[in-house]
Amino acid sequence: MPTITTKTTVVPLGPIEQFPAGFGREVLAAGCRIAVFRTTDGGLYALENRTPHPKGGTLAEAIVSGHFIYCPIRDLKISLETGLVQAPDKGEVWKFEIRETKDGNVELALAIAL
Ligand code: FES
Repeated sequence: MPTITTKTTVVPLGPIEQFPAGFGREVLAAGCRIAVFRTTDGGLYALENRTPHPKGGTLAEAIVSGHFIYCPIRDLKISLETGLVQAPDKGEVWKFEIRETKDGNVELALAIAL
């Protein structure tokens, strides 16, 4: 099996004020569509902006409740902490590392294949 070499790239996403608590927002980072969610307790999460089933849409407009999001179309419940779809449904979305810097900006870490 071939070895895949990756490099982690930090992508600045802008000031934290551009990510209102209780909502999601799509960002483009290195050509990837990422849904960024900020929870009302200050948590910051990043998931791929694609639902985990073939006919689904995007996740950025999902309803944020606690550390979960709910798709308004199919009512899937997805953990922001793990990216896992909650039972009785199944599936998973990619999760990315994201953080708020000391000076109030948001940064995303992307692993890029070399
Ligand atoms: S359309 Fe698939 S989870 Fe919303």
